[in-house]
Amino acid sequence: MQAKYKVKVSPPVQLSLDLPAPAGNATEMSGVPIDCSFPESYADELARLEAFNKHLYRPNTYLHKWWARRSGTTFRHILKQLVADPAKRGFYEPGGLEGKVIFDPMMGGGTTLHEAIRMGANVAGVDIDPIPVVQACATLQLHLVSHSKAVFSQFLHQLREVLTPLFQTTCPDCGLGAEVQFLLYGLRRRCSCREALFVDSYLLRENRGDDVKICAGCYGVYAGSNHQCSAAAERPLLERRVRHCPDCDSPFQDVVDQPFSERYVPLVVVGVCARHGQFFKSPGPVDCHHIDEARRLASSLHFGGAEDFQVPGGPKSGDLLRRGIRTFLDLFSPRQLLYIHTCLDLVSDLPPDDRLWLSLLISTSLEFNALLCGYKGSSIRRPGAVRHVFSHHAYSFPYTALENNPVFSGSTSGTLARLFEDRVVRAGRWALKPVETRLSRDRKQQVGIGGEIDGGQLAHDWESLLDGTRRFLVLQADSSNLTVPHGIIDFVVTDPPYYDNVQYSDLSTFFRVWLRQLLPDLADWNYNPLASAVSEGDASGNTKYGEVLGGIWRTCHIALRPDHGRLIFTFHHWKHEAWAELSLSLQRARFALVNRYVVFSENPTSVHIKGLKALEHDVILVLRPTQAGETPPTWPKPSRIESSDSYRFCHDCGSALGYFLASGLSEQLTRQGWQALFLGDGNAEASS
Ligand SMILES: C[S@@+](CC[C@H](N)C(=O)[O-])C[C@H]1O[C@@H](n2cnc3c(N)ncnc32)[C@H](O)[C@@H]1O
Ligand SMILES: [Zn+2]
Ligand SMILES: [Zn+2]
Ligand SMILES: [Zn+2]
Repeated sequence: MQAKYKVKVSPPVQLSLDLPAPAGNATEMSGVPIDCSFPESYADELARLEAFNKHLYRPNTYLHKWWARRSGTTFRHILKQLVADPAKRGFYEPGGLEGKVIFDPMMGGGTTLHEAIRMGANVAGVDIDPIPVVQACATLQLHLVSHSKAVFSQFLHQLREVLTPLFQTTCPDCGLGAEVQFLLYGLRRRCSCREALFVDSYLLRENRGDDVKICAGCYGVYAGSNHQCSAAAERPLLERRVRHCPDCDSPFQDVVDQPFSERYVPLVVVGVCARHGQFFKSPGPVDCHHIDEARRLASSLHFGGAEDFQVPGGPKSGDLLRRGIRTFLDLFSPRQLLYIHTCLDLVSDLPPDDRLWLSLLISTSLEFNALLCGYKGSSIRRPGAVRHVFSHHAYSFPYTALENNPVFSGSTSGTLARLFEDRVVRAGRWALKPVETRLSRDRKQQVGIGGEIDGGQLAHDWESLLDGTRRFLVLQADSSNLTVPHGIIDFVVTDPPYYDNVQYSDLSTFFRVWLRQLLPDLADWNYNPLASAVSEGDASGNTKYGEVLGGIWRTCHIALRPDHGRLIFTFHHWKHEAWAELSLSLQRARFALVNRYVVFSENPTSVHIKGLKALEHDVILVLRPTQAGETPPTWPKPSRIESSDSYRFCHDCGSALGYFLASGLSEQLTRQGWQALFLGDGNAEASS
C-alpha cells in the first residue's frame, strides 16, 4: 500500500505582503492605559455575541480542537488597552503593539498570540501540552490558500481511491450504486438472561407524518406507518431508557469483555442516490460485504507499538478504562482505522509545512470519525448531524453510534473536505483580512481591520523577539520551570486553567496518540500531563494548583520589564479554595493587583460551567511585579462577597484578591480569610 498514494506538490510559496512599516518604540509609555481604564460594557456585549460561536468569529485560531477557549474580542480589548498611542487604541483601529513583546505562558488555543500578532507585536507562547504548540505553529504561519487547496485536492483524491469503494451501497428505490453518507449502529448490552441491542430512539428522522423509523421486531427501516414485519431478529431492539430486562428484571450492562468496536452492530445505512436523494435503509449484502472487506484489510494494519495507544489512568481517561477500553485503537471501526492509516501514509511524504496543517486537520477530524460519535440527525431541523466525540467536554458513550464517511462528496458535517473548507480555506482568507463585528443600537456590522494580518514569521529564540514585528516563538515546556531572559517581556496576557474546571491534558490524549504518529518529530509526545500541569481536578490537587501556578508567575516576574511590565489574565471560580490558591500563587511570585474588570465569559448554557451555577463572567486581573521591600498598593478590606449575581461576584473576588496580595497574611490565614468571605463572615481571618 505504501508507495501507491504519494502526494506530489510544489514547495510552499513564500508570501510577500505589503505590510505597514513597524512603528518601533517611537512612543514609549509611562504607565499603562489598562491600569485605569477598560471598556467593560462594550467588551461584555461583544463577548456575549462571540461566545455562542467563537470559531465563526476567529476561524484562524480553530484549526484543531482545544478546550476552554476564551472570546477573542475580550483579549483584543485587553491588548488594545496596552497600546501607548491613543490614536491606535480604538477596537477597530489596526495595530498599535509594534515593538512590544507579549507572552502567554499557558497559551492553549492561542487566543492571545493571534490577537497580539495581528496588532503587530512579537509574541511568545508556551504550553506543556504539545497540541497547542503544534497548532500555534501551523496557524501563525501564513499560507497561500491556493497552495493549500492544491495540496488538499491531491491528498483527498488519493484518499478517496482507497476509501470510496468501501462506502458504496445501492439505492433502495432504483437499485443503482449510491454513496454511503453514514451508518448507524446499535449497542449490545446484556442482562442475566440474554443479550439485547440498544439505540437512542427508534425514530431515525422526523418527516412530517412520514417519520423514518426502525422496527424493534425485525430491524426493518420504514417510513410512515406502512411496515410489514419480516422474521423477528435474534436480539430484541430496545431504546436507551429501558434500564432493566422485562423478563429477568436484572439491569442491562455493557459487554465489557468484548472489544469496544465489536460492541456495536450495524443497523441503518444512510446514503444518497443521484436520482432519489437521501435514503435510510437496512444494510444489504453489498454493505455487509464492504464491512467484512474493511475488517479484513484493517486486520493487517500496523500502527506502531501497542504501548503508544494504551489508555492511561486519569480523571477522564478513567471513563474509558471503566468500560474495558484499554487501547485508543479500539475506539474506531475497521473502516475508520483504514482512513487513519491511509492518511498516515499520505502525509509522510509531504513537505514539513504542509504536513503540519494537514496532520492537525486529520487529527481533529477524528472527533467526527470515531465510534464515540452519536447521532443527532433525527430532528427535521438538522438532518445528518454528527454528535462529535467531545460535545459534552468528556467521553460519552452513544447507544446509537454513527460511523461517518470521512470522504463523502456532499458538504455534510465531519467530512474531511468540509473541515478543510472551514478550518483552512476560510481561516486562511480571514488571516489575511481579519474582520470584527461592530455593534451599534442593536445593529451588527462587519468591519474589516485593514492593515492587520493574523500571522507572522517563526522565531527560533527569545532574543529575536526584540527586533522586527509580528514574529512568533512557540515552545512546549512547563512554564513553572522555564528560563526566559530577564526583563524582555512587555506584557504577559494569559488565561490559566481555572482550578478544577476542564481536564484538557487528559482528554487530549485522544488526539495525541494519533498526532505523535502524524508529526513524530515536532513535539515531545511522551510528556506526562499529570506530573507538571496546573492541577486539573484531582481532588487532592488543590495545593498543587497554587504551587505550579506560583512557579509560572515567578517565570513571568523574571521575564517582565520591571518598569511597565504587567501580568494580565482572566479568571473565575465559585470555590473559595480556588481563589485562595490563586492569591497564594501570586503572593509567592510577588505580584500586586493594579486593577480588575469584569466581562462576560462563556455561553451560560455551556456544560463547562454548568456545575458552577452558570457563573457567566470572568474577572480580568491586572497585576504588576513588585520588588523585594516595595510596599504594594493597598486595597480596602472586603467584608463580604456578593454571590447572588455573577457580575458582582467576580468583581468582589477581584477586589478581595487585591486585598489579600497586599495584606502580608500567612498562607493559613489567607485560606481562612477567603473561606470566611465566602461564608459571609469577613472578620474570620483576623480572629483566627
Ligand atoms: C485555559 S487553557 C488556556 C486557554 C487559552 N487562553 C485559550 O484561549 O484557548 C490553559 C492552558 O494551560 C496549559 N498548562 C497547564 N499547566 C501548564 C504548565 N505547567 N506549563 C505550561 N502550560 C500549562 C494547559 O495545557 C492549557 O492549554
Ligand atoms: Zn435511486
Ligand atoms: Zn433478562
Ligand atoms: Zn418489523
